[in-house]
Amino acid sequence: MNTYKIAVIPGDGTGPEVVNEGLKALQAVAQKCNFKYETHTYDFGGERYLRTNEVLPATAVSELKTYDAIFLGAIGHPDVKPGILEKGILLKLRFDLDQYINLRPVKLYDERFCPLKNKKPEDINFTVVRENSEGLYKGLGEFQNKGTKDEVAIQVSHNTRKGVERCLRYAFEYTRKYGKKKQLTLCGKTNVLTFAFDLWERTFYEVAKEYPDVKTDYAHVDATTMWFVKNPEWFDVIVTDNMFGDIITDLGAMIQGGMGIAAGGNINPEGVSMFEPIGGSAPKYTGKNVINPLAAICAAAMLLRQIGEVKAGDMIENSVKEVVLTKLKDLAAGKMGYSTTEVGDLVVKHLK
Ligand code: IPM
Ligand code: MN
Repeated sequence: MNTYKIAVIPGDGTGPEVVNEGLKALQAVAQKCNFKYETHTYDFGGERYLRTNEVLPATAVSELKTYDAIFLGAIGHPDVKPGILEKGILLKLRFDLDQYINLRPVKLYDERFCPLKNKKPEDINFTVVRENSEGLYKGLGEFQNKGTKDEVAIQVSHNTRKGVERCLRYAFEYTRKYGKKKQLTLCGKTNVLTFAFDLWERTFYEVAKEYPDVKTDYAHVDATTMWFVKNPEWFDVIVTDNMFGDIITDLGAMIQGGMGIAAGGNINPEGVSMFEPIGGSAPKYTGKNVINPLAAICAAAMLLRQIGEVKAGDMIENSVKEVVLTKLKDLAAGKMGYSTTEVGDLVVKHLK
């Protein structure tokens, strides 16, 4: 029997509440699918930072490398200046663990929860492959004449051939394997970002030659947001850079029913991956047992698939779907008709 080692970082705000429900589902499915796992919980987050003045212990990254996967709740604390925890924990882990893919499925389970008119589950079912280690997130740039009336702030998008190519390859492989239409769309801005997206576009069509079974397509990022609203059914798999991927996946989350259901994986195909609900720490709802844990539960399902427990992942996802379709009044915090813990219990109950 396989025993997996899973690091758990509940983090800030509602993170711990949703992570608990994810772990509940994990435990139930492990019994049914006959695998074992051990968890170790790390207290990284705002509270720890305020207490110790340390964002991440020096040993964190090397320790986390010894796990099969990481399950993360949320990072972000109202008493900590924006950027410190995000950069010091979330982005640092993504970078240092070289999780160069951010995989964000956009899947509508029930048309009742779609803000778009006349869109059904079959219309909203695509995946965004976001590059997760470069671009504007690299943090390159500088101030010139800071604080003066001649101030200039420069923020550079850093794209390497190797970084772009490995992301594109992952996207082509993913499309070949899981794409419903075997269609991969590059989302960029070739008409304005004539360095960065020139590299992306050239590499895209070069790599495409190795995947004759995958149809290629291109959309500018602004048009992509338009299609997300107008014709989301056109998409199958989308690949894009870090910044655009960040932006379009919030829109993606909304059309699939909101942050309550949107999960993502920070993936290092050759190393340790980290799974998280993509919504934030939601301070407003913290400790009230009202936040929707389904995004975290779906993140746990993605984690299971990544470590090879595909059946267990599918089981969780099917149960989530059933609970969404037959039980929940709404996917938003406080409006589900059930508490956070009750929704977790419902998912466990509907596992089969
Ligand atoms: C996300 C978040 C992060 C990002 C923030 C919190 C740094 O918005 O996971 O999408 O920009 O990547
Ligand atoms: Mn984001």
